[in-house]
Amino acid sequence: MSNELIEKIHQLKARRKAVILVHNYQPGEIQDIADFVGDSLGLSREAAETDAETIVFCGVRFMAETAAILSPAKTVLLPEKDAGCPMADMITAPQLRELKTQHPDALVVSYVNTTADVKALSDYCCTSGNAVELVNSLEAEKEMIFVPDKYLGQHVIDKTGRDMILWPGYCPTHVIISADAIEKAKQKHPDAVVMAHPECTGQVRAGADEILSTSGMLHFARKSGAKRFIVATETGIIYTLKKQNPDKEFYRATDNAICPNMKKITLEKVVWSLEDMEYKITVADQIRTKAKAALDRMLAVLPGT
Ligand code: 13P
Ligand code: SF4
Repeated sequence: MSNELIEKIHQLKARRKAVILVHNYQPGEIQDIADFVGDSLGLSREAAETDAETIVFCGVRFMAETAAILSPAKTVLLPEKDAGCPMADMITAPQLRELKTQHPDALVVSYVNTTADVKALSDYCCTSGNAVELVNSLEAEKEMIFVPDKYLGQHVIDKTGRDMILWPGYCPTHVIISADAIEKAKQKHPDAVVMAHPECTGQVRAGADEILSTSGMLHFARKSGAKRFIVATETGIIYTLKKQNPDKEFYRATDNAICPNMKKITLEKVVWSLEDMEYKITVADQIRTKAKAALDRMLAVLPGT
């Protein structure tokens, strides 16, 4: 059955002149049909550069919105209209506007896990893969607001020594991973390297050997001489870690760090999406141009990362 679906996807892709972009947390069978699998930064770059007419985004809404902002002439499809990101919904445009009125001189850096409306009110976007470098590149004496992830924000403060006003947002999937679970995993696998995503809590980050974005983890695991790794992030990434490193072992820090929204995309939904050209993700022009400026500033500050 899944072979038939995959064949159908290939045919429809050619008919629609489509490219399939897939986030590292997607189910394995979706990663396998991808033209490009990556983290939020890599996917943004790919969306900006592809010459396909249609982008099928297998991820969550803010990612598809980012693609629509960067590539307005293309049709961007999200195969499941309700695949959202609870963290992105933890700050609204009116809330950010209010915060900005309290700190009128502050630069606003927003994590890419935000709505287009919030990006439009931001000076810079960043991803987990470049947040530290981006903040380091900004004027040291400037006041700064960072939204919405307080854990990524604290990680950036720890790494840069910069003071930032943090919004109390968080990722419900990453906060499930406890320091206790990391300790237990370390006791079970004492020679394993602990890789944690910066969306994890401070206690989990403190127990990690490496703090990395999802693609950062894939890169690190490929290059590292270590043979065993404890993985503190959404469990979908373990599929690719194992595929790329058949001689290495990867252990989940905890079994239940599963993002329900990332798992809403199925092969059937990709077929329907390409057949019906749904669900189209668009961003109104006056929001899009401002949001694009924040994304372009991110892509321009760090062209090599
Ligand atoms: P990265 O893939 O950019 O590390 O982001 C993780 C994430 O939570 C995306 O929703
Ligand atoms: Fe959002 Fe967390 Fe899911 Fe990423 S893993 S999409 S941040 S809820």
